[in-house]
Amino acid sequence: MKILILGANGFIGNALVKNLLMDLRNEIYGLDLECSKLDHSIDNENFHFIDGDINISNEWIEYHIKKCDVIIPLVAIATPNVYVKNPLKIFQLDFEANLKIVKWVAKYNKRIIFPSTSEIYGMCEDKEFNEYTSKLILGPIHKNRWIYSCSKQLLDRVIIAHSERSNLTSTLFRPFNWIGPRLDSLEQARLGNGRVITIFINNLINNQDMVLVNGGLQSRSFTFLDDGIEALIKIIQADPEKLNGKIFNIGNPDGNLTIKELANTMVKIYNEISDKPYKGKVIEKSEADFYGKGYEDVPTRVPCNAEAKKHLEWIPKTNINKAIRITIESFLS
Ligand code: UGA
Repeated sequence: MKILILGANGFIGNALVKNLLMDLRNEIYGLDLECSKLDHSIDNENFHFIDGDINISNEWIEYHIKKCDVIIPLVAIATPNVYVKNPLKIFQLDFEANLKIVKWVAKYNKRIIFPSTSEIYGMCEDKEFNEYTSKLILGPIHKNRWIYSCSKQLLDRVIIAHSERSNLTSTLFRPFNWIGPRLDSLEQARLGNGRVITIFINNLINNQDMVLVNGGLQSRSFTFLDDGIEALIKIIQADPEKLNGKIFNIGNPDGNLTIKELANTMVKIYNEISDKPYKGKVIEKSEADFYGKGYEDVPTRVPCNAEAKKHLEWIPKTNINKAIRITIESFLS
């Protein structure tokens, strides 16, 4: 199968490339701004990588959409601090640049596997979020945090509308707080542009205080990267028609922790692994002090996995403590 991965050097991209190359029948075409996370695959003869920008490399991208069987556009900024500080950057990259890709996929009637997001559900109050019945609840316009969710939601809607008109074949997947090696860099975390797990790892390594935003009672369902990639591979290998227009939550309900529980678990695991125990403290800050006034939080986020179980025969296997341990270890080494 010929597979085009835009954003091949990202957290999901690099792990997906590595996995797909295990099947010698796959030819992977990858584009990204750099290949720093692709050392494991860059010399593989079935991997064709170019340094490129989704905003600039138009000719290359359109040609490869025409040439490939499956298009997986993973380029996006996915860190809440940037949603708040630079919402127009999110609109341009996460929405406009990706809309262009969707239009080409429709023009050539190809298959797109699109990364939607758990953020889509916003402040939904369901106990478990369902792809087909849950309401998508976002906050007011001046809360910039929602521009990412809103951008992804509109792309989901455009893709599904194209699917319904048979302009393309699609499957949407929604990662729920995937964690694992090669997530955000520690430099991004230092600047506050990482996700909570990398920000906490950076705090632990540098003995800085770990901040619980609003007391840390909000929860997330943390999901190990390898489990998520397994689900993605199943989607890629499935009959495209059978999964056409379908949406899958890819998350681990058993990995649901409050951010306070996450912080305490991480301190405990870090102290077991590291030869120097953590000397910082776990402190609390308001969301306005930590992110600025454009922030609003998601109180709880638990995926319903019934769809993935039914159509992909997929369930997450990795215990949350093991996933956290592997993630911390990967950054320490
Ligand atoms: C994330 C991001 O939007 C995307 O990566 C993605 O689409 C989605 O959710 C996902 O991974 O499923 P969120 O879970 O809010 O959103 O992002 P984090 O930065 O990881 O924050 C998680 C929670 O930790 C938030 O409640 C935040 O307020 C809190 N937090 C973050 C802290 O308490 N302290 C910190 O130092 C950082």
